[in-house]
Amino acid sequence: MDLKSLIQRIPKAELHLHIEGTLEPEMMMALAHRNRIKLRYASVDEIRDAYDFSDLQTFLDIYYAGAQVLREKQDFYDLTSAYLKRAAEDNVRHVEIFFDPQTHTERDVDFATVIDGIHRALQDGQSQLGITFRLIMCFLRHLSASDALATLEEALPFKDKIHAVGLDSSEVGHPPSRFVHVFDRARKEGFLTVAHAGEEGPPSYIWEALDLLKVERVDHGVRCLEDLLLVARLADEQIPLTVCPLSNVKLRVFDTLEQHNLKLLLQHGLCATINSDDPAYFGGYIGENYLRAQRALNLSEADIHTLTRNAFNASFLSDADKQRHIVDLDRAMISF
Ligand code: ADE
Ligand code: ZN
Repeated sequence: MDLKSLIQRIPKAELHLHIEGTLEPEMMMALAHRNRIKLRYASVDEIRDAYDFSDLQTFLDIYYAGAQVLREKQDFYDLTSAYLKRAAEDNVRHVEIFFDPQTHTERDVDFATVIDGIHRALQDGQSQLGITFRLIMCFLRHLSASDALATLEEALPFKDKIHAVGLDSSEVGHPPSRFVHVFDRARKEGFLTVAHAGEEGPPSYIWEALDLLKVERVDHGVRCLEDLLLVARLADEQIPLTVCPLSNVKLRVFDTLEQHNLKLLLQHGLCATINSDDPAYFGGYIGENYLRAQRALNLSEADIHTLTRNAFNASFLSDADKQRHIVDLDRAMISF
C-alpha cells in the first residue's frame, strides 16, 4: 500500500538534524560569494557531484569544508530559516536541532554569532510557522575533551537558549568514555544529554553513552542489534534511537535501504524514530526519509504511526505538549 499522502499529512517531530547539514549547494555558493570565500568547486553541480561518500569520514571532510562559508549572524539565520521552511512543507511541528560551535569558533567566528543567528531564526519559525524547537549543542569528538570543556564554558552565558548537549563527528576511535567529565559537568549545569553512538562504532559505545554519559537518547544506535543484552536494556528503558535511514545508506552503514534494520528495531520493541541527519548531503528531508524507508521496508500504517508517536514521546517537550501533538497525530491517522 502506498502511504505517501498519509506520510505527507501527519504531524512530525525531527530530533536528529545538524543545522550545518542543511546547507544546500545553492546556499553554499551564495554565501561563499557574499562572504568572499573561495570554494574548491566552480558550480552547484560540481558541489553535488562531490557528494559520493564511502563512510562517515569522507562525508565529514566535505561537510566541514562546506561549513566555512558560514561567517555572519545573518548566514546562520538564513540557514536555519531555510531549513524550517522546508520542514514546514513536510508538516514538521517540532524540531530539536544540533549545532557544532567548534566548527565555527575554531575559524574565529564568535559563539554568540552562531547561536544568536540560529536562535533568532528558530524564534521566528515558531511565531511564523508554528514549529516549536529545542537547541542541542554538540561537541566534536575528534577534538579533545579539554576543547569540549572549554566550549561548554563558553556556552554557559547562553544557557537559556541551549537545552541539551550531544556528541558527534568521527565515531570510531573516539568512544564516549573520553567525554565523561565534560558530560558530568554539563549535567551539573542542567543540560540534558544525548550522543551519537552505534552509527559506525560498536555496541560498547552505546553502553558507554548510556552508563557514562547518562544520555536521554542515542543518536543512530543502529548497531545495537549486534548485542541482545543491549537491545533488552534499550527496550526495557524505552531509550529512544534517532535513526536516519537515508544517511545510513549514503554513509554505507547499510548497503541499501532494503537492508536497513529499522523494521527490526521496531519488532524488538525499541523506541525508534525517523530523522534526516544532514538532508542537504544525503538526498532527502524528513518526509523523504519516511517515504523511502516505508517503501523499502514495507512499513505498515501502524509502523508509521508508531514511528511518529515515538518521536513526540522522545522529544524534550513537556508531557502536556507531547500529548497535544499526539492527539493531533492520532486524529490525522484516523481520518486517513
Ligand atoms: N555530524 C554531522 N552528521 C553526522 C553524523 N551522521 N555522524 C556523526 N557526526 C555527524
Ligand atoms: Zn547526526
